[in-house]
Amino acid sequence: KKTEKKAPSVSSDNCNGCSKVINKVLEHYSETWTKQEENYLKYRSQLHTRCRGSDRAILTQANTLVGSKIVYDGEKKKVYEVTPELFRTFVKVSPFSNKTWNTCAVVGNGGILTNSNCGNTIDSTQFVIRCNLPPLENEFKAHVGSKTDIVTANPSSYMKKYGALSGQRRPFVDNLQIYGNSMMLLPAFCVVKSTPLSLQALYTVEDFEIPIQPVLLNPEYVQSLTDLWRSQGLKEIRLSTGFIMVSLALEICTNVHLYGFWPFSNHPHGFQPLTHHYYDDEKATYFHAMPSEFKLLLQLHSQGVLRLHLGQCG
Ligand code: CTP
Repeated sequence: KKTEKKAPSVSSDNCNGCSKVINKVLEHYSETWTKQEENYLKYRSQLHTRCRGSDRAILTQANTLVGSKIVYDGEKKKVYEVTPELFRTFVKVSPFSNKTWNTCAVVGNGGILTNSNCGNTIDSTQFVIRCNLPPLENEFKAHVGSKTDIVTANPSSYMKKYGALSGQRRPFVDNLQIYGNSMMLLPAFCVVKSTPLSLQALYTVEDFEIPIQPVLLNPEYVQSLTDLWRSQGLKEIRLSTGFIMVSLALEICTNVHLYGFWPFSNHPHGFQPLTHHYYDDEKATYFHAMPSEFKLLLQLHSQGVLRLHLGQCG
């Protein structure tokens, strides 16, 4: 069994007082971790009963009929009526129905993954979920791996880089090849403007006949997660993609491992400065109030529900 390197006990402070904050955060983090089956089952069954991600996380021809009205999770007063053309783009049934994976990795995009050597460990997981079309090639592979079963694609992740897909689409298509035949999860009904952009990505994949499989995130599922986590004390305006994926993983996976979740600007073990993402330093807007989500993830870690990896691998 691979073990993570033990965190050095830190007393010195080379980051302007950040050690106090970080050590406080880490009071609830233990490197030695054991799964607590009862706690895990409690969360899993709550998610299963109240949110039903295995059947509802994705819009399917089985759960959303032509003529039904999809309510945007980010703009409650806006609805989109399902046309036969939109219905055609839905998968027939949920890819998660009656399925459980033994081990899953949810990979956030935090700069904590830089030089982590976690690539092989992540790739040895049965099911790997990544967020927002992250780069996996060249220098990143050793630290983040490349296996991908789901990759989310928030329009902001291709708007800037690929000109909202209004011009040449070949560079976008070429970029998607690294995710093989994984599912590309599009949050098409978060806000009104995300619909045409997500559909544009979906049509591009269809037109170029590449193996990635576009699927649409169900805003009703996102809303049910928001309600559930709010009842557990999370006061989010909108859940982050990473947090939505963790919630899904808790329902469809027996053992959930998290990498790349660390929304702070210094490393937890050496306090060296970190970039916001492992691939760039685009600053967080904290639209999602990520540190409060992180507090909840820490709590789930300490309750043995999921395992949060903050150290180096191997
Ligand atoms: N994340 C984190 N710590 C960081 C950066 C990201 O924990 N330093 C997690 C968050 O859960 C985030 C996910 O990794 O949702 C993916 O990162 P990113 O692409 O930066 O997400 P966001 O920009 O927050 O986009 P979204 O609105 O899709 O959540």
